[in-house]
Amino acid sequence: MNTKILTTSKEDIALAGALVARGGLVAFPTETVYGLGANALDEAAVKSIYTAKGRPSDNPLIVHIAEKEDIVPLVQAVTPPAQALIDAFFPAPLTVILKKSDRVPAVTSGGLDTVAVRMPQNETARALIRASGCPIAAPSANTSGLPSPTRAQHVIDDMSGKIDAIIDGGDCAVGVESTVITLATDVPTILRPGAVTKEMLEAVIGPVKVAPAVLEGMKNDEVAASPGMKYKHYAPKARVVLVDADQALYEQFVNSRDGAFALCFEGDQVTVPHLCYGRESDDLSQARELFDALRRLDEMGAEKVYARMPRKDGVGMAVYNRLIRAAAFTVIDLRKPFTLGVTGQTGAGKGYVCALLAEKGFTVVDADAYSHQVTAEGSPVLPALQAAFGEDVAENGVLDRKRLAERAFASRESTDCLNRILHPAIIALCRDAAKGLTVLDAPQLLEAKMETDCYKVISVLAPEAVRLQRIMARDSLTEQQALTRIRAQHSEKYYTDKSDCVIINDGTADVPSQLARILDAIL
Ligand code: TXA
Ligand code: MG
Repeated sequence: MNTKILTTSKEDIALAGALVARGGLVAFPTETVYGLGANALDEAAVKSIYTAKGRPSDNPLIVHIAEKEDIVPLVQAVTPPAQALIDAFFPAPLTVILKKSDRVPAVTSGGLDTVAVRMPQNETARALIRASGCPIAAPSANTSGLPSPTRAQHVIDDMSGKIDAIIDGGDCAVGVESTVITLATDVPTILRPGAVTKEMLEAVIGPVKVAPAVLEGMKNDEVAASPGMKYKHYAPKARVVLVDADQALYEQFVNSRDGAFALCFEGDQVTVPHLCYGRESDDLSQARELFDALRRLDEMGAEKVYARMPRKDGVGMAVYNRLIRAAAFTVIDLRKPFTLGVTGQTGAGKGYVCALLAEKGFTVVDADAYSHQVTAEGSPVLPALQAAFGEDVAENGVLDRKRLAERAFASRESTDCLNRILHPAIIALCRDAAKGLTVLDAPQLLEAKMETDCYKVISVLAPEAVRLQRIMARDSLTEQQALTRIRAQHSEKYYTDKSDCVIINDGTADVPSQLARILDAIL
């Protein structure tokens, strides 16, 4: 099929209107994204939309109208809240869902008994609807699964040869699709956030819910309130990961990642290949630029893209909703004090793994070093240790480490007791020392429940016989002393159950490549 590229002239719009009236497919600009339009009341024409997009047929379409009153024949009743929203906002980047009338064919509503209706702000869009003489069903004019088109070129890239015509109306002003709100439920519920925000809607009709899937994605057993929620969306070819961090930490992070691309805000000091999507403080600019940036990253050949996290309120909710889907819900949370926690049994070789991480630019915080500091001469924890383990573990205000170790590591109970006394003070010092990308090196990380302070926890493990030899040599212990220490610790299963990843350091396994694989998977 030869796809005509049309302008917004009167003649071209009349031509496009005639194509729609005859059952054709025409892509047209709206203020949100380009739509792929057909006569909403013509079953065959609507079916051809699904074919051109490769869209699943249970995903219903939005019906676009040119005048407010054109909604009346499409629905069973314009309820009072619907009327209030229409009066307050239409024409707008807002779609309302109501019970449908018999005039709307099942293909248009994806078999549902409701219909989604929107009156676009864009003059060309409304002129086309008038010229066609019918309501126009139109999804976004992209291939199903790809980012929505915000420029005529995006539509040409996806739809050339598959549809009758494309009206080039320039760049879309809003850049993310309309807010979709259903009024067919007890409490009005936002199914898709857009430029008409929750706050704006509530100012007109009172409390509005946000469907859980908007921010969190769907649980496996959840039934979609909006069929569009369950499909893969906005995904470029590149693997996108959202990074939750302030500007400085985001910069440190992306600049340290080999081969990465960044999707950042204007003004971010990024040294890897990157594109900006708007300004941090301006959610409208982010909305306008996001989809174009996602498409351009593919053109740049990006394989892994680290996107900076937008705010989740106002229009930011719409931006976040699209990006988290583009990222298939993968988020790196750098807002925790520690990027990584490294733990494991004594003698397994945490120190070696932490040294490798330090070489890669991480700050390493060594909890053991702080455990010395909190037990230094005159420390307020010494009397507590004496009460628990005997006066002679700290004579004259000086800790006898060896004596304390013998008693405290003799059994699980006494180890737990030692931990209860020392951990709170050590944890406070470690948190204070965290700076930028930080690794917490802590043998008692899990016992101290510090995994919630870390984005991911790595356990370093080795067979008992190997650990035994290592700690006998390192700490000049007899076999019996070393065994007592090892037996007071948790089993391997404890570590594998409670950590995100495991490194085996048995003396033969290649630790650097295990670590590299883990970092590639989690960061
Ligand atoms: O801004 C927009 O809304 C653009 C422009 C072209 O107007 N259109 C658009 O359409 O984004 P589309 O088809 O890509 O997205 C429509 C969304 C889908 O997630 C669909 O599942 C949902 O609205 N939807 C449509 N009718 C529905 C209904 N009756 N009940 C629940 N969800 C519905
Ligand atoms: Mg779409």
